[in-house]
Amino acid sequence: MPDSTSLFHPVITLPDDVRAERYARLVGLDAIKTRLRKEAAVLADPSTLTTWAAKNHPKVKLDDHSITLLSDRAPLLLFAGDVGSGKSALAESFGCDLAVRMGLEVELWRLKLSTRGSGHVGEMTSLISSAFEEVRSEAKLGRNYSTGKVTKITIMVVDEADALAQSRESTQMHHEDRAGVDAFLAEIDSLAGSGTPLLVVMCTNRLAALDPAVKRRAAAIFEFGRPNDEQRRQVITTAFKNYDLPADTIDKLVIATGAQGPHCYGFTYSDLTQRLVPSAILAAYPDGAITADLLLTVAAELGPTTAFDDQASE
Ligand SMILES: Nc1ncnc2c1ncn2[C@@H]1O[C@H](COP(=O)(O)OP(=O)(O)OP(=O)(O)O)[C@@H](O)[C@H]1O
Ligand SMILES: [Mg+2]
Repeated sequence: MPDSTSLFHPVITLPDDVRAERYARLVGLDAIKTRLRKEAAVLADPSTLTTWAAKNHPKVKLDDHSITLLSDRAPLLLFAGDVGSGKSALAESFGCDLAVRMGLEVELWRLKLSTRGSGHVGEMTSLISSAFEEVRSEAKLGRNYSTGKVTKITIMVVDEADALAQSRESTQMHHEDRAGVDAFLAEIDSLAGSGTPLLVVMCTNRLAALDPAVKRRAAAIFEFGRPNDEQRRQVITTAFKNYDLPADTIDKLVIATGAQGPHCYGFTYSDLTQRLVPSAILAAYPDGAITADLLLTVAAELGPTTAFDDQASE
């Protein structure tokens, strides 16, 4: 049996200022944020629908068939898409928004998949069941079962979930991992309609390679992509807002980081924040200022990260 306390990174209680700011800084995700906010609220606490129903459809009560169709879904949210597009950043920060809007505490539990082990018989399965057991017993405390009131929502993040949720049909898949997918599905099923205020968020680069049974269970699948011109402009101007760069320099940089090469893709969000901005500053430091020429040279040298080829992993 794995040591249960080592299955998760340290638990974080939200809201906190650092994550609230990270959430606010995520560009181009407004539609995802809006849908996520609704899904999370309704899945974690279906009684939030009663207030809406009372106002708009007074005959509809919490046990109405239409409401159970929503609340009986598995509380599984899938974040899928390109590298460096904000999946992990959003998974680890949307709880702030949820906590503030719902006026309650949110606990963030991040599963350590590095403890996946060496594939010994039963290891993956027992890791999954221990992890769910630990998080579920804590999450249950978030609902007062005599009044039904939710006081705390728990979010379990399964990041880099590709190996865990890879299709069981994949020929390269180790039989131990296949058993792990089955165990995961059983845990997710047991949460559906259970009333435990627990959300499971799974992040993956490979939507196509994900087990169809995992995809089918997800209450919502959110797809993340590369930034368009406007979104790159926003990231660049935010990063360099105190540098007094001329407007045409920003324009050129937006173009230089756009679609290029034989595959026609542009920079990812993380190409801009974690490669371009630091490299540009270091290229100028310690003797010079950041100029348009310097920025364009750095952008040309770096180029966009290769797109994650979803099809190749099938
Ligand atoms: N939508 C965004 N707006 C602003 N910055 C972003 C956005 N998405 C990503 N970033 C920047 O890129 C960094 C990496 O993002 P993140 O770790 O969330 O990517 P990811 O989608 O999980 O990628 P991977 O698939 O490689 O795990 C963030 O810390 C942030 O600086
Ligand atoms: Mg990530």
